[in-house]
Amino acid sequence: MKFFVDTANLQEIQEAHDLGVLDGVTTNPSLMAKEGIFGHDNVMAHYKQICEIVDGDISAEVIATDFDGMVREGELLAELHPNIVVKVPMIRDGVKAIRHFSERGIKTNCTLVFSAGQAILAAKAGATYVSPFVGRLDDVSTDGLQLIEQIVHIYGNYGYQTQVLAASVRHVMHLVQCAELGADVVTCPLSVITGLLNHPLTDIGLQKFLADHAKGSK
Ligand code: E4P
Repeated sequence: MKFFVDTANLQEIQEAHDLGVLDGVTTNPSLMAKEGIFGHDNVMAHYKQICEIVDGDISAEVIATDFDGMVREGELLAELHPNIVVKVPMIRDGVKAIRHFSERGIKTNCTLVFSAGQAILAAKAGATYVSPFVGRLDDVSTDGLQLIEQIVHIYGNYGYQTQVLAASVRHVMHLVQCAELGADVVTCPLSVITGLLNHPLTDIGLQKFLADHAKGSK
């Protein structure tokens, strides 16, 4: 399973990269705004910086919601760097744009997916990734992980090549369960990835090993 970090914060991206387990990055307009990145030139420069840190797929989201606008923006984004994946919302013109990009060899991430039906459409359109939002479904009392299970099952039935990118992954157990269910990728904050390190028995065990080792130097 690939690990993507879901942030536009360069320090966090660098930290995730330095850990040696990072496969890519996802961003969205809210994450860019959180870092104070506004305006076409600043946004493009920021994506370039991310691509310089991480050698893996970097999702960059279009803002337009009409076909022509999405195509225009997506083509500019794709020209920035070969690792850019154009992130397109699951709307009617978005599906058409995904088909357009896939026919031209431009990678896409179909975002804001909340149902199996939407995931089937994304795969039919030739999306490279589909992003079902686990945490946001949980937020409205719907089992987000059940959607991951459903999509993995359906894609398996037909051998769809679209990769299931579990998004809106909020905690360690989300991540572990996505792995159990066979998601191809998870994207989450850095704290979720580093959260995987934690176990009290590891800390207690290490303390004891070090204390026993120190006895020899007394
Ligand atoms: C996916 O690519 C989205 O950027 C993200 O995972 C959404 O997460 P959130 O629901 O925690 O905002």
